[in-house]
Amino acid sequence: MAEIHRKPHAIMISVPYQGHINPFLNLALKIASNGFSITFVHFEFVHHRLSKAHHCNKTHVDIFSQARESGLEIRYTTISDGFPLEYDRNANFEEYWGWILREFPARVDEFVGKIIQSDPYLVHFLVADTVFSWPATIAEKYNLVNVSLWTQPALVFTLGYHLDLLRENGHFPCKDNIDEEVNYVPGIKSISTRDLISVVKESEQGQYSMVESVHMGFDQVKKADFILHNTVYELEAETLSALNKYQPNYAIGPVNFFKNLPSYTVSKSLWSESDCTQWLESKPPSSVLYVSFGSFVLTSRQVIEEIAYGLLLSEVNFIWVVREGILSSGDTNIMPDGYEDEVKDKGLIIPWCNQIRVLSNPAIGGFLTHNGWNSTIESMWCGVPMICYPFLYDQPTNRKLVVDDWKCGISLCDGTISVDRKEVAEKIKSFMSGAASKSLRQEANKVKTILHHALEVDGSSQGYFDRFIKDLKEKIH
Ligand code: UDX
Repeated sequence: MAEIHRKPHAIMISVPYQGHINPFLNLALKIASNGFSITFVHFEFVHHRLSKAHHCNKTHVDIFSQARESGLEIRYTTISDGFPLEYDRNANFEEYWGWILREFPARVDEFVGKIIQSDPYLVHFLVADTVFSWPATIAEKYNLVNVSLWTQPALVFTLGYHLDLLRENGHFPCKDNIDEEVNYVPGIKSISTRDLISVVKESEQGQYSMVESVHMGFDQVKKADFILHNTVYELEAETLSALNKYQPNYAIGPVNFFKNLPSYTVSKSLWSESDCTQWLESKPPSSVLYVSFGSFVLTSRQVIEEIAYGLLLSEVNFIWVVREGILSSGDTNIMPDGYEDEVKDKGLIIPWCNQIRVLSNPAIGGFLTHNGWNSTIESMWCGVPMICYPFLYDQPTNRKLVVDDWKCGISLCDGTISVDRKEVAEKIKSFMSGAASKSLRQEANKVKTILHHALEVDGSSQGYFDRFIKDLKEKIH
């Protein structure tokens, strides 16, 4: 077959979770609008969920059709993970992620091999999530340039990158309740063991798939040609500079807010979005607390109850995203009986929303968050201070950045997830209107300015992105 070389072509594969899908879709559009052709691969069940959430016929939903109308070369396809569509991947995370680490790579290999065989434009590079266990192996086999996207802060990346140092110093595995200083990791001046990523904690060692995932992902990323970070240089300068001594790192975030993408409405949400605009417009400026624990966290009925009554006791207006399936017990009856009647017009409880739209509304005065990195960076983009309630993975480390380093949030509890309604109510009250709330807002606005400037034409993230494109082109040719 004659080769038709139009644009350099990438295969992009996202991890099938909302917090990874969102930055991947935006990165695909940004790369495509810089003269590249993209084959974007979703897991089949993600495609199915998107179709369902957006009421599209499964065979017709094409998340990039509008982008193509704007002249971008993006093809969209799916890969099966080998599980039935209805299999609950969150509730069975240990089994599922273990399979994705160990068995799924053979499927990716076959899949990439087929695309390469059939593609008249050839494939030049691969863009995959750093947490996958196969990118370097596949890139090497098919002679592709290997681009890794890290969707969390550089601080978390550095901890994963230097697991060996944590191990040598007795902090991997790390006893759960100790407070020791870690000051030997390049690029991290000082961090308490309490703020380390949860997978290094002793109690998490039974979560084999997550522990293995960090090992495998970071072994692979050490062979990547380019590492893209969804963060901003000015926020993590020391950490990023230290990483640059090992490999080329590009801080291009916040990816979810890239500018000058073609106008599009790519379907991203895995759940249908409730529209909160009218309700928010009935509330005074900065009076509403937005509450959400992201797409992934599972928790207990007791935690939900304490948060629920804490919110009520605080007398603050709130929007609370209570995701279907958030209870680890699998119980579908989530809220306490009669709760919504007690709340009346003070609160809006919804299954999902367009979070960025909600956070951008002037009625929002704060965000009670689990500190998933997307939620954290979206809150900062909107200048909204946070009450931090981290559960696991990167979330405790993200809390440290928000509260201790950037001073635009407070902690709900002292590093635990056990909450008490009275404490929740008091924290919320003082956070929304107490003496400290003004300084939190000021600090949040300072961080907001840094993030917004980073994506301007002369900003650091735009600069890193341009350099990445230039370096990528040189590497490909
Ligand atoms: C997961 C991990 O839990 C998190 O720690 C890691 O940083 C990223 O992967 P998740 O828990 O879903 O992500 O949290 P987060 O990173 O905050 O991503 C959630 C995304 O869903 C955000 O982009 C947010 O805008 C979106 N969202 C959330 C909605 O669009 N609507 C909602 O109602 C809630």
